[in-house]
Amino acid sequence: MKVLIATDKPFAAEAVNGIRDVIEKAGFELVLLEKYTEKKQLLDAVANVDAAIIRSDIFDKEVLDAAKNLKIVVRAGAGFDNIELDAATANNICVMNTPGQNANAVAELALGLAVYAVRNFYNGTSGTELMGKKLGIHAYGNVGRNVARVAKGFGMEVYAYDPFLTAEAIEKEGVKAVASAEDLYTTCQFVSLHIPATAETKNSINYTLLSKMPKNALLINTARKEVINEAEIVKLMEDRKDFKYVTDIMPGNHAEMAEKFAGRYFSTPKKMGAQTAEANTNAGIAAASQIVDFIKNGNERFRVNKK
Ligand code: 3PG
Repeated sequence: MKVLIATDKPFAAEAVNGIRDVIEKAGFELVLLEKYTEKKQLLDAVANVDAAIIRSDIFDKEVLDAAKNLKIVVRAGAGFDNIELDAATANNICVMNTPGQNANAVAELALGLAVYAVRNFYNGTSGTELMGKKLGIHAYGNVGRNVARVAKGFGMEVYAYDPFLTAEAIEKEGVKAVASAEDLYTTCQFVSLHIPATAETKNSINYTLLSKMPKNALLINTARKEVINEAEIVKLMEDRKDFKYVTDIMPGNHAEMAEKFAGRYFSTPKKMGAQTAEANTNAGIAAASQIVDFIKNGNERFRVNKK
């Protein structure tokens, strides 16, 4: 059995070593493709492997069709919008993710970006503090929960909205639940995004929603760029000089944003929320273990595509 790690953005070396241990102890062989620059390299690498561990690497129909022996692909991370699920199902390939394994890393970055923004991107001028401010968590999943925990440490007042959870489930964790996204944005000066990129959420963070945020608003995006309506956030930030946007996912209109909103906008050069040795190790080893358990025992817990 050949297991491929295909990562355009490589894991920490210790995570690769940990994955190798799990794979080799199971009697399987590890193949490594890191920092590939052309799709052809990925197409060649998947051609004769039985399983794959990936990150945000694009597994579209072309890649899945080229992977003639592939039985399982595990996205070492939470969001699986980079994989064409229908094509995987059609090819009898099981797709899994590793929910929660990198959540703390992403949460720490979200709060780190918030500090960076309220301290005026460390430019030496007087900023503000997080303590006592209202933070809205948009989608209360694994990352959202970790953001709440860290934000409480900062002394923030934490609110959350999640259409898939009851108010009771949110409030039992000491977080105030609100009834709608509109309520969250109206209530909170700070909003941290943790929604997946789906047909329903794409472009959903728009002018109407953002314009509800109180004075000196800050939007923090460690989720996906696709959920932001890029043209409308430009218009909003033109209309509201008090609005700041910090993101870990470089928008399509980054050059325009950087030029127009210097001092109010920041993007990391490469998505790095989950880029820690701990998150890489947790997610990578979980992915390897899930592959072994699937191949040896048929365990499909964490499967995200239809059969
Ligand atoms: C995720 O969905 O798990 C995060 O966005 C991290 O993605 P990455 O592994 O591509 O950094």
